[in-house]
Amino acid sequence: MDTIHIRGGRRLKGRIPVSGAKNAALPLMTASLLTDEPLTLTNMPRLADVRTLGRLLDVLGADMSLDEGADADVMTLHAKDIRSTTAPYEIVSKIRASFWVLGPLLARCHEAKVSLPGGCAIGARPVDLYIKGLQKMGAGIDLVDGYVHASAPGGLKGAVIRSPIVSVGATHTLMMAATLADGLTVLENAAREPEIVDVANCLVAMGAKIEGIGTSTLRIEGVERLHGATHRVISDRIEAGTYAIAAAMTGGEIVLEGAIGETFEAALSVLRAAGAEVESEQGAVRVARNGARLQATDVVTQVFPGFPTDLQAQFMALMTVAEGESEITETIFENRFMHVQELARFGADISLHGDKALVRGVEKLKGAPVMASDLRASAALIIAGLAAEGETIVNRVYHLDRGFERIEAKLSACGAEIWREKATQ
Ligand code: UD1
Repeated sequence: MDTIHIRGGRRLKGRIPVSGAKNAALPLMTASLLTDEPLTLTNMPRLADVRTLGRLLDVLGADMSLDEGADADVMTLHAKDIRSTTAPYEIVSKIRASFWVLGPLLARCHEAKVSLPGGCAIGARPVDLYIKGLQKMGAGIDLVDGYVHASAPGGLKGAVIRSPIVSVGATHTLMMAATLADGLTVLENAAREPEIVDVANCLVAMGAKIEGIGTSTLRIEGVERLHGATHRVISDRIEAGTYAIAAAMTGGEIVLEGAIGETFEAALSVLRAAGAEVESEQGAVRVARNGARLQATDVVTQVFPGFPTDLQAQFMALMTVAEGESEITETIFENRFMHVQELARFGADISLHGDKALVRGVEKLKGAPVMASDLRASAALIIAGLAAEGETIVNRVYHLDRGFERIEAKLSACGAEIWREKATQ
């Protein structure tokens, strides 16, 4: 397996182009199953998860063509005929978002058999909300041998669905299902993450009727059919937030090209509170820190527009060297502190108390061999390694490759000493 090596202590200075958002690109790809016409997605990130989902869509019947650009790809998916309505375990167990084909398949073909999902091991991650929502829309659902068997022989029917908690995946799934259902669906307490907005806008470009985009109540009037469209994937607020934290960690100055400040304002305001300089510019965000030490700052993860859980690990890495004690509370996933024991290898002082981590800032981190446990946690280890004295070796980087495009190249271009060593077979 490849490893990433970092010799820490360099200040980052330069410009980083932010890629298209993984968490928008994946559901956008599944939306291609809703129409027999081509869906073209521009600004597609080059990630392992995109390739994995592409393999699943191919099995289901979407032909894919990829036009590789210098910074981003253009992907066209054409599901003229659905070849299969079964999403097999071998693929769905690799990434959770592939479970989301359930909504479009059921809406278009009135049946689907989808393996229960996998993805990052950051908690129990059940799918009860997806199932209850689809049942309300008239689907019959059975769980057999680890597969969700869903069928709606007469087609899905519009319904009012109030979710007890905000779920990104359930909102994507039910919103897509509702586009082709008979009548009006109202999704109450829906997620309103920027990636949901991006997907909703794409669905509208495909002919869907959706009101309330960007709010927590979505009203979707089903239509007979959707058509093809071309859509640009929104820029990745989690990637941008990760590099913003890296800039604050190492000092120096980074301009995040293509970053949309409003999509991660909660993270930017916490960085400001910790002592970083942050300016949102037209089409970019600039993050800098002069020599002064960062101040400990508390965060609580929340659904959008709150501080995103997907930046919690990276922010914790930053707080390990801040002055004072910071309390980091994780409210979205119950088991998302696996990075704590790895950060301890750098000499970080962190204790866990239920859903809270108490981080006591130390003067310096020391490089260490560490193990990535999940996608965002891997980024936290890179951030710690960038500031640590000496060499850090990050193992299991396949987690990183799932969601961060060319991370070594982007950081090296800003002066970081970071390189990948290929596994010798
Ligand atoms: C998505 C993101 C992930 C992010 C998360 C929260 C993608 C590909 N992944 O994941 O990066 O960390 O949103 O912003 O976009 N839940 C239930 N029952 C359900 C569904 C969810 O109890 O049926 C719970 C989950 O266990 C979790 C909470 O709801 O505690 C939020 O999860 P959800 O928003 O669904 O996360 P994902 O869509 O899996």
